[in-house]
Order: sequence, then C-alpha cells, then structure tokens
Amino acid sequence: MTSSRRILLIEGHPDTSAERLNRALVDAYAAGATAAGHQVRRILVGDIAFPWLKSAESWQHAALPSSLQPAQDGIAWAEHVVLFFPLWLGDMPALLKAFLEQVARPGFAVGPEGAKPFGHKPLSGRSARVVVTMGMPALAYRWYFRAHSVKSLERNILGFVGFAPIHETLIGSVDSLGAEGVARWLKKLDKLGAQAA
Ligand SMILES: Cc1cc2nc3c(=O)[nH]c(=O)nc-3n(C[C@H](O)[C@H](O)[C@H](O)COP(=O)(O)O)c2cc1C
Repeated sequence: MTSSRRILLIEGHPDTSAERLNRALVDAYAAGATAAGHQVRRILVGDIAFPWLKSAESWQHAALPSSLQPAQDGIAWAEHVVLFFPLWLGDMPALLKAFLEQVARPGFAVGPEGAKPFGHKPLSGRSARVVVTMGMPALAYRWYFRAHSVKSLERNILGFVGFAPIHETLIGSVDSLGAEGVARWLKKLDKLGAQAA
C-alpha cells in the first residue's frame, strides 16, 4: 500500500464540457486516487480567466494574476502533479502553454532574477505524469514524430523547474477507441491514481 500523497490534477483542455475524453480521464484518475486515500486537488485551466503574458518585464516583476494563485498554491502543495491535455497541432493547446508561462514565474518555478538558470530548481521534490490524448496512433506520435512536444514539455519545462521522475501516458486513435477502448483507459487511469503514479 502506497502512503498517502498530495496530488494535483491539471486539466489542460480549453474545452471544459463534460463529454471530452480528457474530463473522463481526469475523473478516473481522481476516483482511483481518492479511493486509495490520497489527497486530490484539481485545476481546470479552461475555466480560469487570465491574460496572456506579453513581456519579460511582467513575467519578472508584475504580480501573478489573482485567478492563477490557486494554481501556484496547488503546485506548491503537491507532491505529484498530473497534467492532462489533448494534442492540438502537434503540441499542448495554446491556452495551456499560456497558463504555464504565467504560473512558472521567477522565484516560484525558476530561480529569482539573476540566479544561475541551471542552479537551484525551486520545484524539486515533486514527481509528475503527462497524459496526452491524440487523433493519430500513439505509436506514430512516438516513433515518427519522436514525441517531440511531450519530450520538450518534460525536459525543458517540467524537468527544468525540478520535477522528477516524469512519466507519460499517450492515448492515441481516440476516435476509434469505442466504448470498450475508453473503458480500458479509464481503468488504467483509475489504477495510476490509486498508485499515485
Ligand atoms: C484544434 C485541434 C487540433 C488537433 N491537432 C491534432 C494533432 O496535431 N495531432 C493529433 O493526433 N490529433 C489532433 N487533434 C485531435 C485531438 O487530439 C483529439 O480530438 C483529442 O485528443 C480528443 O480528446 P478530447 O475528447 O478530450 O477533446 C486535434 C484536435 C483539434 C480540435
């Protein structure tokens, strides 16, 4: 039995309607984790109103938009963060990238201004999983496209700010999964939730 962990689930889908596959996956992970005694918090990126980050100046010096404070608090609180999103034009949806740009501020996710960029990683001590859904077969994304955008997220964003280890779940051919295929994935996500993995 895994000891109780604090888990933050970040639902990165811009469309917050309940029929989305991503919503079902987040729900399944949350159900498994809660039933196993883990503490779970959720952030629904598509529901948060926040402005685009437009300058280095505001990244370094402007206050974080107050609507994003729960996201920073949730990340600070968590021992394990799971990021869910659909692949859009080969990458995470722009809204999720905009969210990460705002939240990953100096002093919180990277060293304060003037600190060595490869020195202290403020979010060390946390693990992560990235769950990505896509229309193409997952094998095509992994082997033909070399999973470039997921690798970039894992190495250049999550790893850079200190997350380790980072695992991934790639769910492909979403349009032909059928009810049985979806049920199989929900079961897998429920199990990952129970393992806080
Ligand atoms: C704007 C947009 C761009 C997309 N781009 C891709 C893509 O580049 N590669 C791919 O395999 N699927 C692509 N898809 C398919 C989505 O990944 C798929 O619909 C999604 O993962 C299904 O999950 P959902 O039900 O939670 O939306 C795209 C879909 C949309 C709406």
